[in-house]
Amino acid sequence: MEKHLTVRPLISGEELEAAFRLRYRVFVEEQNVPVERERDEDDGAADTVHIGCFDKENLIGTARITGCNTRIIHIGRVAVDKAYRGFGVGRRLIEGCERIATSVAVKPFTIVLGAQLHAEPFYLKIGYVRVNNHIYQDAGIDHVDMKKDMV
Ligand code: COA
Repeated sequence: MEKHLTVRPLISGEELEAAFRLRYRVFVEEQNVPVERERDEDDGAADTVHIGCFDKENLIGTARITGCNTRIIHIGRVAVDKAYRGFGVGRRLIEGCERIATSVAVKPFTIVLGAQLHAEPFYLKIGYVRVNNHIYQDAGIDHVDMKKDMV
């Protein structure tokens, strides 16, 4: 599968809707995040870039980067289609987000994210470290803040 994967910003409204549908399946249906919390004002902000991971033309992963054009960029709403997990898609997605962030950020910069606690080992493998040991609940899910310094 790896060789067919492409990670790029979502271009059309249709692609963005596909990403929102994937997020709905993962966060609302699978993780019980309240629907009114899943979408927020950052989705429509001018400095947000929505990103997709495609297997050929199928959207199988999505994430967004916010705070573009600054020194602190936030990666969020990281979701991989359940059927495609454990095959390196999440890693490719985050690496793609970093590549896109590098093309727009003011350098050097830092990527920050609020990791769901269960996903911390995933982010550790990609070079993220805890900002502190504070574990907090967001939408009923334990989170920890993580970061990666970029050049
Ligand atoms: N615990 C421990 N290790 C994990 C892990 C987990 N939950 N998820 C992934 N990893 C490891 C993999 O084993 C792999 O290790 P390797 O490089 O040594 O082989 C590495 O992290 C990369 O994993 P990958 O296959 O790219 O991850 P994925 O495609 O399964 O995506 C998530 C990971 C978290 C994005 C995916 O499980 C997901 O969408 N979960 C539901 C939504 C969610 O929780 N999002 C995170 C919000 S913060």
